[in-house]
Amino acid sequence: MSKGSRRFALLAGVVAVAAASVATTAATAAAAPPPVTPFVVGGEDTTTQENPFVVALLSADGQRLQDTRGQFCGGTLAAKNKVVTAAHCTVDIKDRPDQVQVAIGRTKLSTEEGQVLKVKAIWVHEQYDADKTTADVSVLTLEGDSDAKPMELADTSDEGYTPGAEAVALGWGLTSDNGEPSDTLKKVTLPVTSDEACKTAYPDGYVAEAHVCAGVQEGGKDTCQGDSGGPLVGSGGKLIGIVSWGEGCAQPGKYGVYSRVSTYLEDIKKQLGDGSEGQRR
Ligand code: ARG
Repeated sequence: MSKGSRRFALLAGVVAVAAASVATTAATAAAAPPPVTPFVVGGEDTTTQENPFVVALLSADGQRLQDTRGQFCGGTLAAKNKVVTAAHCTVDIKDRPDQVQVAIGRTKLSTEEGQVLKVKAIWVHEQYDADKTTADVSVLTLEGDSDAKPMELADTSDEGYTPGAEAVALGWGLTSDNGEPSDTLKKVTLPVTSDEACKTAYPDGYVAEAHVCAGVQEGGKDTCQGDSGGPLVGSGGKLIGIVSWGEGCAQPGKYGVYSRVSTYLEDIKKQLGDGSEGQRR
């Protein structure tokens, strides 16, 4: 193909993509592409003071480096000494809890802020299925208690699961598809989608019982690699989801998929043990 015709082919491709996106976003007014904002993806800076329940999982031995800081996943404090995260974050090291440490109260990972606690035990949900990414849930038992206030977990009746309700996802993950991770904790507000919308996005991948989606049809805001295991906080202020997977990050029509906490609530609560605020009823 000559340069000229290749350029034309490229242009034709762009036009075709633009036309397709007009077709798919027709309901959402304009055809303008979403602004590409480099954060969580499409989010803003926040702090662990404002979100004390968010934690970073750090590699203890440098083997699991996502980047120089050794942060490889996120998590949520669900009791003073318990962290809820994703099974895909911990399954490889489930018998070696010395391989991970938890940073609490560290807004900027490049600092020594906050506490770093060792991990005593790792529980991975017995039904975790890596192919279907169902039961993507894990609980870490910390060696000490944290001073931070744990977050409560949502049950099936939680208002946060209502389609359209605004949820907040948090993490230190990539700030664009194939981009750079963030030194500073980021947050992004995302509407929870209906089962139908998520099934349309992922006809083979979405399992309504195991998953809940959040995001916008036009893309531009999402969680991304490195955010896994971190929180999706519902409008009622409880943990409704755990960052799990998605096709790319912030792609149009491809919502982020989160483990549905309410489905696994009883299993998680069993792991939280006594004296946990997260377990209070
Ligand atoms: N699996 C990723 C991780 O390990 C999280 C991906 C989330 N993707 C998304 N598009 N929301 O960090």
